[in-house]
Amino acid sequence: MEYQEAANLILQAKNMYALTGAGISTESGIPDFRSDTGYYKEFDGATALSRDVLLGDPDRFYHEGFVMLKDLFAKKPNAGHKALKKLEDLGYLKGVITQNIDNLHTLAGSKKVFEVHGHTRTVHCMSCHKTYPFQDYVDLVTVEEEIPPRCPACQGVLRPDVVMFGDMMPQDFQDAYEAMETCDLLLVAGSSLVVAPVSYLPGMAKKLIIINKEATPYDYKADVVIHEGIGQALTKIL
Ligand code: OAD
Ligand code: ZN
Repeated sequence: MEYQEAANLILQAKNMYALTGAGISTESGIPDFRSDTGYYKEFDGATALSRDVLLGDPDRFYHEGFVMLKDLFAKKPNAGHKALKKLEDLGYLKGVITQNIDNLHTLAGSKKVFEVHGHTRTVHCMSCHKTYPFQDYVDLVTVEEEIPPRCPACQGVLRPDVVMFGDMMPQDFQDAYEAMETCDLLLVAGSSLVVAPVSYLPGMAKKLIIINKEATPYDYKADVVIHEGIGQALTKIL
């Protein structure tokens, strides 16, 4: 049975990490990107969320890209996030590497979280680099309808502290990459594993568990593959 096999691998591992994607947050009511109910069925958000579009075509940035950032605040962690927190508390999990910008691992209580695609706690000014709370920025866009919202200090263009198309990867990605060098078990939950450079990480792990509703390009290489809902699967493994 896959759950027992996954549990056995976890019990044997000395340096286990988790790698999560949008699929771990769908049970909290946040759409993922590439499944039938995902953002990319409606919006070409991958290219809209870029520095070039923000500066060159702000209307498109705020109508196609920003929609993916603005509704994350009332969301709560689900059974999947809570199970990973529990695995860390029990001493089995060293940290969570997440592509998500929704803060839900931290809200669930996970202590070591690598936010490799940034986060939605702050935004910063592209001219003077001053940072502001994300909520102030959302209010400027949705309440004041100010597009693009500008820095109160210098009138520079504000941008979210999320990784956008064409950006450099943040320090958290370098840290996650280094962690993978000693990682002996990677538990992937809710990622299609098609977006580089994060998609290189599963290839670095000595052992691999994948929990995802749909098949991924790494299924052939994984020691255990579970094609089910994450909340239920992780709860059973725990
Ligand atoms: P994707 O939407 O590509 O993949 C999410 C996967 O989760 C899909 O394969 C779903 O089948 C699966 N899934 C959804 N709900 C699930 C559930 N309850 N249980 C199990 N599996 C479930 O999302 P990511 O892999 O996170 O980057 O996408 C990677 C990156 O692409 C994102 O971080 C974002 C996007 O472009 C940036 O914006 C920089
Ligand atoms: Zn400024």
